[in-house]
Amino acid sequence: MSTQTVSVAAAEAKRVTTQTLLEMKSEGVPIAMLTAYDYTSARILDEAGIDVLLVGDSASNVMAGHETTLPVTLDQMIYHAQCVVRGVNRALVVVDLPFGSYQGSSREALRSAIRVMKETGAHAVKLEGGSVSVDSVRRIIDAGIPVMGHLGLTPQSIYKFGTYKVRAREEQEADSVRRDIRKLEKSGCFAVVLEKIPATLATEVTESISIPTIGIGAGGGCSGQVLVTHDLLGLTQDFNPRFVRRYADLAGTMTQAVQGYVEDVRARNFPNDDESY
Ligand code: KIV
Repeated sequence: MSTQTVSVAAAEAKRVTTQTLLEMKSEGVPIAMLTAYDYTSARILDEAGIDVLLVGDSASNVMAGHETTLPVTLDQMIYHAQCVVRGVNRALVVVDLPFGSYQGSSREALRSAIRVMKETGAHAVKLEGGSVSVDSVRRIIDAGIPVMGHLGLTPQSIYKFGTYKVRAREEQEADSVRRDIRKLEKSGCFAVVLEKIPATLATEVTESISIPTIGIGAGGGCSGQVLVTHDLLGLTQDFNPRFVRRYADLAGTMTQAVQGYVEDVRARNFPNDDESY
């Protein structure tokens, strides 16, 4: 058995920590991360072997039906995180600080991060932005809370960007990503999400730092990958960017199941004698 096989097997048996992710990067073992917002799904994803569960502010879209991630509140994120934590035995649980809960000041950021950690039992927080967020990142980490960064397309700034198109195609913005990721690494982030940037840039910055990068629409050169679980499962139907691979058609499966139930109820085929007392 090779050294790599031994340490991966050990990592699979134990709880995933921020240190595990660093080791996975240095051993060249890709990190698998998905979003989760509720107990039942978190339990299934955890038992299926996911390394990191992100209680993403994409809850605003997929749970609440909003067009953007902006409306979800800190209280709502805390509720989702509490549900997820109850379903998890192995994965590292990271919680997004939502829009408006950290941009005001590093003091506000720390207060929000402390609420998340105290009230949910999660293991880390994530926040968007490079240079502008560095003071908050430092302050939160100084309080003993691990922080994951998020660069490239940062959906909380959608009204500043005006579009969900790929970021950092131009050299000037690519340079900002290069600078920002080094700042986040220096500030003590344990990992950084890279969203919708060219694969060559993502590979380059991944190789230039010691902490792992987790890509979404950032190519195969990142240290790991993340998708919104509802996209991967085919539950979301009208969101089809090229970076999403659908591993199931659960919307189709659910529709068939519900249609079958409606038919059976109408035909008095449900419940039958075995299903009654
Ligand atoms: O909220 C979210 O789902 C995210 C991922 C897209 C990384 O931040």
